[in-house]
Parts: sequence; structure tokens; C-alpha cells
Amino acid sequence: MEFSTQTNAAPHQIKTAALAVGIFAEGQLTQPAQLLDQACNGALSRIAKSEFPGKAGTQTLLRNLDGVAAERVILIGLGKQDSYNSKIHANAELAFAKYCVQAQVAEGVSTLASLDCQDASIRQRSQIAATAASQATYQYDATLGKENRSKPVKLKKIAQWVSRSDAAQAKLGLRAGQAIGNGMQLTRLLGDLPGNVCTPTYLGQTAKKLAKEFNTLKAEVLGLKQIQNLKMNAFLSVAKGSDEPPAFIVLKYTPAAEKAKSSRGKKPYVLVGKGITFDSGGISIKPGANMDEMKYDMCGAASVLGAMRAVAELELNQSVIGVIPACENLPSGRANKPGDVITSMSGQTIEILNTDAEGRLVLCDALTYVQRFKPQAVIDIATLTGACVVALGHVNTGLFSPNDELATQLQAAGRQTNDPAWRLPLDDAYQEQLRSNFADMANIGGPPAGSVTAACFLSRYTKEYDWAHLDIAGTAWRSGKDKGASGRPVPLLIQYLMNQN
Ligand code: BES
Ligand code: MN
Ligand code: ZN
Repeated sequence: MEFSTQTNAAPHQIKTAALAVGIFAEGQLTQPAQLLDQACNGALSRIAKSEFPGKAGTQTLLRNLDGVAAERVILIGLGKQDSYNSKIHANAELAFAKYCVQAQVAEGVSTLASLDCQDASIRQRSQIAATAASQATYQYDATLGKENRSKPVKLKKIAQWVSRSDAAQAKLGLRAGQAIGNGMQLTRLLGDLPGNVCTPTYLGQTAKKLAKEFNTLKAEVLGLKQIQNLKMNAFLSVAKGSDEPPAFIVLKYTPAAEKAKSSRGKKPYVLVGKGITFDSGGISIKPGANMDEMKYDMCGAASVLGAMRAVAELELNQSVIGVIPACENLPSGRANKPGDVITSMSGQTIEILNTDAEGRLVLCDALTYVQRFKPQAVIDIATLTGACVVALGHVNTGLFSPNDELATQLQAAGRQTNDPAWRLPLDDAYQEQLRSNFADMANIGGPPAGSVTAACFLSRYTKEYDWAHLDIAGTAWRSGKDKGASGRPVPLLIQYLMNQN
């Protein structure tokens, strides 16, 4: 998808296959709608008064309006003007782009980003518009037979109609939104691919492919021998239950030479993603129902790869390193058993009381490994606990950090991008639940506050740097009829990184 600005024509003069125009509640015309209305002798205001009163989430199609150059005008309901916000804007833009995809048009023009809203600047509105529109073009076809594949998407371009004085800011937003959108598409594809395709090796190949595509990215994929040499025994204890070889992926972004000048001396941001390409639970095996969804247990890894792609496309002026411990969690004659004690890379020992709490085992070694980068901040992203889904559902990502400033910044980035996160506690008092009689800690803390004790476990490996943990168990994918990966929290991550400049 390509995004551009349109500043040269009045709305009625724009030649396009589809023009998006907003209507507020009770048929109140937005400014572009008023301009259009004048050109077509009040046809719009008549429709807005009668059949299309502008309820949020509604759309209607008008064809061949007199005096209007666009082939189709799509009226989009935006609700009450005083409560109009970036969330409604994002949904409106998504609806318009979905309409364009379904109508098989190649390009469209939207006037929606030009509308003021209470919580977003023109730049932010443009970014949100591009991200939302690009999501409308995602289709999963990789493992479908010919008859069941969707028609190829014809939509290639959406232009935003904005004032001349807004154009420069709008362009910046569109560029960011497009990069975030492309990153999310990669994240969604990796999440949706089945476990027998999207293996640890496949994730490694994806990192290498990205490094080929962007010369600011360098990929390194460590195999079994190298992982053993690093003494990542917590990670390896999970990996050894499967015949699928593990991979430890390091993908580094370094700004290009001229940008590097101002980034010199700045420490890198590190993103660590849980890459369990299938989680059966291991010997503590999960119930059969919906176990297929555990192919999504690598969505943390997928969001790191998606975010790294976006960082490279945006040419951020900041070093960023993505790190992914990837393996499967299966039962076998070599798998972890409840009661086993292992020694993590950090030297701390862990009693494995439940082999299904494997995410923290692979992450703790990765979190120890990243110390070597002397990071500015480390953010891990993981589908870590079912308890997080119970606590926050599918709306907010669980956010944990001992650092108030980092937590505040991540939460703000989530708000800015409609990719919200909610902070949960990390009090020392919860650490007691991880006590073990036979090791430095147990890998589970019992039923109370399961997401918190999981984060507490990770906190024991992150003392050397500023750290935050995002539990995306509820937000990385949708169940039910629209089952599929969401691409979250790529928008939050990229907004956070952009806000650092
Ligand atoms: N990958 C799961 C967490 C999960 C569950 C994500 C449901 C998305 C939906 C994780 O490895 C896991 O199994 N966690 C256990 C931890 C428990 C054994 C302490 C859980 O949440 O049940
Ligand atoms: Mn598990
Ligand atoms: Zn898991």
C-alpha cells in the first residue's frame, strides 16, 4: 500500500474511484462534506437529514453524484462531534479501506484525517489512518487451496485530502503509519502460519530475509551448539522436548551513516520476543480444546520481527536490537518433567513445577543474554499467561515494569496508537509465591495473580537494566470466527521508539 496527500483539489473535483466523507451524528456535515454538498446542490445534506444520520460505525455508498468527480462517495458515520476521537477515526478509515478492497478499486481518497479530533494531531491522525487502512488489505492465503484463496487485493493507494499547511505533518504520519502497517502484516502472517510451517528455523529465516531486504539490519541465528556454549540451560530444557531444532535469533538495526552521527553514544533499545512456535504444555500437557491456538505462542517473536521491519523502513535514528529465543514445547522422552531442577544462564537454579510455564524459561536466558548490549531499555513481549486474559481480556496488553517512567511512556505510546496497555503490579510481596524447597525459585507461583508472578519471575533476570514486560496473551490474536493474529503490539512499540527521538 502507498499513502500520499491530496492538497490540490476541492473534494468535489477529486477524480477517484472512491471518496470517503464523514458525517457526524444527527446528519451534521463535516467540513469536506459541506464542500461536497455545495457542489451537488444539497444532495448530501438531504441524505444526512433522512436516511444517513451519521451514527458511528455506519457507512453508505453514493454513486454518480451530480457535480462530483469521484465515481463513488462513501459516507462514513462518525457519531457525535464532541466525542469524536482517534479510535472512531481509526475504525472509520478501516471501514473505508475494507470497502475499497471489497469493491476491488485500485485507489481511493479519504477526507477523514483532515477532521480535528480531541486526542490526535494531524500527524497522529494520518499515522492512524495509514495503519488502519493497511490492515484492511491483510489476507491470509498461505495454506489455502486455489478455490478458497481470496481474490488478490487491487487496492494499492489511498490519498488523504488535507490542507496545504497540514501536508508536511500528514506526510510524516502517513510514512510512520505505513511502516507500522507493513510491520503488522508480517507479525500477523507469522502468527497465522501453522506450527509445522512457522518453526524456529522459519523464524530465523525470516530474520535473515529482513536483513537482506534492509541493509541497516543484520541477522544472526544461533543453533543448538552455540546455545549450549552460552549455557542457556533454561531455554534448552524446553527445546529438548522437541525434535525441531531451536533457534536463538539476534536481529540488529543500526541507523545509516548520516543518521548515526546523532545516535552515536546512545545505547540500544532491546526487544525480546517469546518464540514458542507451538505450546502443547509439555508433560504438564494442556487440554485438547483450542490447543491449535497455541501456534500463536510465538506472537511475541512475531511482533519483534514486525517491529524491526518497521524500524528499518522508518530509518529510525536509534539502535534497536531484536532477540528471539525460539523452540517448541512438546512432551517426549527427553522433555522437562515436573520436579526437574535446571541452572539458567544467570546461574540461578529453577525448579520446574509445571512444564507449561515454559515461556519464562526461554525468556529468562534471553534476558540474561541481552545484558551484553548495555541496553537503554529492554522490553520483552510474550503470550505469557492465561491469567492475563482473565484479568484484562482482549482489550489491554498487560504491562509490568519496576520503572515508573518506562511504564508511563509505554502506556502513553499504547494510547496514542489505539493499542492500549494497562499496568499491573510487581510488588516484592508477590515474589514469595515463587519460593522453592529445591532451587532458587520455582517456575510457577500458584493460582493467585498468575500474570504478576510470571512477571516477578522475569524480574529476577533483569536487574542490570531498565526493563518492561508486555503480556500479550489476550491481545496478540482474536479467537472465534475471525480467528487470527492481530499485529499487536507493533503500533505501541514503534510509537514508543519514535517518541524517544
Ligand atoms: N502460552 C501460555 C499462555 C497462554 C494461555 C497464552 C492462553 C494465551 C492463551 C503459557 O505458556 C502457559 O501455558 N502459561 C500457563 C502458566 C501456568 C502453568 C502457571 C497458563 O497460563 O496456564
Ligand atoms: Mn505454556
Ligand atoms: Zn506458552
